[in-house]
Amino acid sequence: MARLAVLTSGGDAPGMNAAIRALTRSGLVRGHDIFGIRHGYTGLIAGDVMPLHARAVGGIINRGGTILGTTRCQALKSQQGQRAAVAVLHDHRIDALFVIGGNGSQAGALALAEHGIRVLGISSTIDNDLTGADPSIGVMTALDVVVEAIDRLRTTASAFGRAFLVEVMGRHSGYLALLSGIAGGAEMIVLPEHDVEPECLLARLHELRRERRSHAIVVVAEGAVWNADRLADYFKEHNDGESFETRVTKLGHVQRGGVPGVFDRILATRLGSAAIEAFERGDGHVLLGHLEGRIRMTDLDQVNTQAKAFPEDLHTLAQTLAR
Ligand code: F6P
Repeated sequence: MARLAVLTSGGDAPGMNAAIRALTRSGLVRGHDIFGIRHGYTGLIAGDVMPLHARAVGGIINRGGTILGTTRCQALKSQQGQRAAVAVLHDHRIDALFVIGGNGSQAGALALAEHGIRVLGISSTIDNDLTGADPSIGVMTALDVVVEAIDRLRTTASAFGRAFLVEVMGRHSGYLALLSGIAGGAEMIVLPEHDVEPECLLARLHELRRERRSHAIVVVAEGAVWNADRLADYFKEHNDGESFETRVTKLGHVQRGGVPGVFDRILATRLGSAAIEAFERGDGHVLLGHLEGRIRMTDLDQVNTQAKAFPEDLHTLAQTLAR
């Protein structure tokens, strides 16, 4: 019987609660004591630790956000913060820590592992930029939100004959923008991974207008050099009356909120349960993620040092189809 602790950290993602629930119940059934740490690493450093029982995680599989709360903790980046976190884990006699989160959170997990803590990460971020996971928890639900928004924007764009610049989250990654652009049938997709000059985009808008298209949807990743605001300014400055009138819609945190879809509930449930099994096998210092249909483990060093490959094939496909 072990004492196991779980925390959620960084940007919340729909499905985090399903992972907490599965991990807690799978752990309890196997006779372990499960503890929840509130407010991510900030709560860990402050010693905000509480026991989790089977009922405490009832009714949460369909809830977005995280019942444990989350933060982006600067303090954990320092040795002092890391030592404080380790002391709390020792005080509570925690045998292993499970970290549900994305890149920054798994960097924190690695830092604690280097202090001798047994840490197992669970991949969760709507950005889908975590090495060792594809997709991470939250991605599919966020994509559904973005694509629904694109579908809605298309009808009003078409009614007015406008171009919409739809700004999509992802931090430095263009994954959400690329996939939502493909699924939403966008006329153009602007990504951080592939620089494109604004004059080329404007020329394409002119072309679409000359072809008497009723509208244009341009999906723009927030991390692109030419983000939605910059592009809108450029288009305004260079408008000679030949192009579409332009509007900007930033989807913002709507993309992270709300009810997790079925894929994320099942993925998070599998990952939460697999994390307990991994602990019992003696694993640690790993990230659990979904890869090619299976739950796999990747060393935390690799997760934190190797950039995730961008799906170039999908980018080529998007270019082929945007006609
Ligand atoms: O990492 C998830 C994410 O939603 C990014 O896509 C986005 O850039 C960032 O978090 C926003 O962070 P915050 O919620 O702290 O504003």
